[in-house]
Amino acid sequence: MHKSVLSEEALEYLKCEDKKVILDCTVGGGGHSEEILKRLPPGGRLVGIDADTKALETAEANLKVFKGAFVLAHANFRDFDSVLRKLEIDRVDGMLFDLGISSFQLEDPERGFSFARSGSLDMRMDTTGAKPLWEVLKRMDEKTLAGIIRDLGEERFWRRIAKAIVSQEKKAQIRDSAELAALIRSSVRYSRASRIDPATRTFQALRIYINDELGALKEALNKASAFLSPDARIVVISFHSLEDRIVKHTFREQAKQGALEILTKKPVMAGEAEKVQNPRSRSAKLRAARSIKD
Ligand SMILES: C[S@@+](CC[C@H](N)C(=O)[O-])C[C@H]1O[C@@H](n2cnc3c(N)ncnc32)[C@H](O)[C@@H]1O
Repeated sequence: MHKSVLSEEALEYLKCEDKKVILDCTVGGGGHSEEILKRLPPGGRLVGIDADTKALETAEANLKVFKGAFVLAHANFRDFDSVLRKLEIDRVDGMLFDLGISSFQLEDPERGFSFARSGSLDMRMDTTGAKPLWEVLKRMDEKTLAGIIRDLGEERFWRRIAKAIVSQEKKAQIRDSAELAALIRSSVRYSRASRIDPATRTFQALRIYINDELGALKEALNKASAFLSPDARIVVISFHSLEDRIVKHTFREQAKQGALEILTKKPVMAGEAEKVQNPRSRSAKLRAARSIKD
């Protein structure tokens, strides 16, 4: 099961009740989309995008009671403009981004996202394109890998971990997520009492890298305001400080240009009850803005 994060808050900012078209850029299993569809007025439509075809199948099944009110599209959200163009939609009244991966993806051993289980070391959200992580990793030099682990994982043992991975790759290719996690654990000194697994940050860094998550977010946010109708809302839920920084800066830049009004001076975080019920929400930050141009 995937529990949607900051759902009430996202819906409050999206204000779907009087909107015509909402674009959910990260439809996943359809958790937020379902809540949006419940609130849209008669005639309202939801367009849902996901890079993951399996997620779209799940969403299609979960949203079937709303048949006719939604359209799903397989795409990277950096290309949301092409999706809208194909549907002959010029502007939307709301846009939602709930970044990262879902629990469905994390728990699927075929995807290799989790350091806690054995599976193919793939880590692509879109398995129809580009190369899986194991294939990229075998060609990566130590300097590049170290930089990724340091910058995208903010991992203090970046040097040691990169060295261990590259030297293992020379002996035998790493094809399994559990094997990579074990290698990382054996390359750093850590206390067994530590709450966080030593492989956490490296796995996060590699996932962000292989999917170019920061590049896609920048590209999508930079063009978003051109596709918002007046008073449309844009809501972004992020789970990583680098993502939140991109959201904050892009909103500020577009507010300076007179395109957006920022609705959240500080990011909205999950309350204690949600944090207990849904551990994924602990690092979540929500920022929202409103389109103020004609
Ligand atoms: C956190 S989940 C969304 C969960 C959903 N909001 C819900 O409540 O059920 C994020 C989803 O976004 C998708 N995703 C992440 N980055 C993407 C991108 N650049 N383009 C398209 N889909 C993306 C992932 O495949 C995943 O299914």
